[in-house]
Amino acid sequence: MVSGLIASGRIRTRGVERAFRAVPRHLFLPELPSEQAYQDEAVATKWVDGVAVSSASQPSMMAIMLEQLELRPGHRVLEIGAGTGYNAALMSEVVGPAGSVVAVDIDEDLVQSAGEHLAAAGVPGVTLATRDGALGYPERAPYDRIVLTVGSWDIQPAWWRQLAPGGRLLLPLSVRGSQLSVALDLMPGPPPYLRGISVRSCAFVRLRGQGAGPESSRPLDTDGLAVQTGDQRELDTAGLRALLRSPGDERVSSVKLAAVDLWDGLGLWLAVREPNVCRLLVSAAASDRSPSLLPVGMDGGTVALLGERGLAVVVPCGHASAELDRRFPVAVRPYGPDGAGLADRLGGLLGAWAAAGRPSAAELRMRAYPSDTTPPPGAGSVLRKAHSQLVLDWPDNRVAPGLS
Ligand SMILES: C[S@@+](CC[C@H](N)C(=O)[O-])C[C@H]1O[C@@H](n2cnc3c(N)ncnc32)[C@H](O)[C@@H]1O
Repeated sequence: MVSGLIASGRIRTRGVERAFRAVPRHLFLPELPSEQAYQDEAVATKWVDGVAVSSASQPSMMAIMLEQLELRPGHRVLEIGAGTGYNAALMSEVVGPAGSVVAVDIDEDLVQSAGEHLAAAGVPGVTLATRDGALGYPERAPYDRIVLTVGSWDIQPAWWRQLAPGGRLLLPLSVRGSQLSVALDLMPGPPPYLRGISVRSCAFVRLRGQGAGPESSRPLDTDGLAVQTGDQRELDTAGLRALLRSPGDERVSSVKLAAVDLWDGLGLWLAVREPNVCRLLVSAAASDRSPSLLPVGMDGGTVALLGERGLAVVVPCGHASAELDRRFPVAVRPYGPDGAGLADRLGGLLGAWAAAGRPSAAELRMRAYPSDTTPPPGAGSVLRKAHSQLVLDWPDNRVAPGLS
């Protein structure tokens, strides 16, 4: 597993490699046959009402995040989302005896079993606590690093307060439905702000408790079609269902898309620029009946713009490619009285994204400010949350050609 993570470029530094080699993952997944623990796969470990609420994250993603974190021996670290305890053990290995790791989880049973796993692996020096991570863990603050291994909609005030000067916050953060693993360094200001230094696409279970976000996906039928918006706006789902029964004339785009563009690429570009972006999500079982940018047989969906009396949806011409990074032709399909206008707008955004060189998460610039401060004007699109505001943009000097 470790050799694979090095070959794929996920592990890039000696410290992270050493940690992965030193900590046996199977001891953190005792229910699984040992060999299976060394597949590069996430393993769900707890469900509530059929929804996974805890998992041992995919090793690739863990390696990406550990590299984003840039841990050093002696660092004081807070992890929110202890889960199995595996990531806390890896981090403890990197920070060494001069450093410290506190890992909290909202569920008592998970904290209990994480403690058993850490003891079985003989990892000393991790402090575990049952706690709503939205509040951090002030008892041991300040921290050089605060890392969430669970998706968050907002940046909680406790995390700002508990970061040491120059400290780094790493979290899977929602940007209107796209989830990004962002490493943000605390800058003194005034006003103090968090400066994004690394952004990657990711997919984590969401924070529960006080910090749970308003993001939601609402079912449109019993067949696995749902609509997901980045906020909790009122939605007439029955009206939307009716609209979706009468599509207008499709316009084929000169821009081709790949599966990754659902959440990253075009999906993220729309999320940054368009408050009205939404996604139509489709389950694997229904994937042959609804438009999806992912191959038939996989959970997927597509991006859309939602208006008062209509929507415009990106649809594959035929089916999406079975290879996730292969581009295929798409069209924009209008629905409802406002559909044609929205389709014009969506087609324009699709062209602008391609003309800008198909920007993606890796190049996104992000700054985060507390919600009660004023970000400098003109720095990018501003996305306001309850406790923070994100200023988002791509550098202008990106490679421009490459239209499709
Ligand atoms: C993807 S798992 C973390 C995996 C873990 N880092 C590991 O190495 O196994 C996400 C965890 O976040 C926890 N969680 C969810 N909401 C939380 C909250 N408000 N505070 C603390 N933990 C939370 C879940 O219970 C779950 O165990």
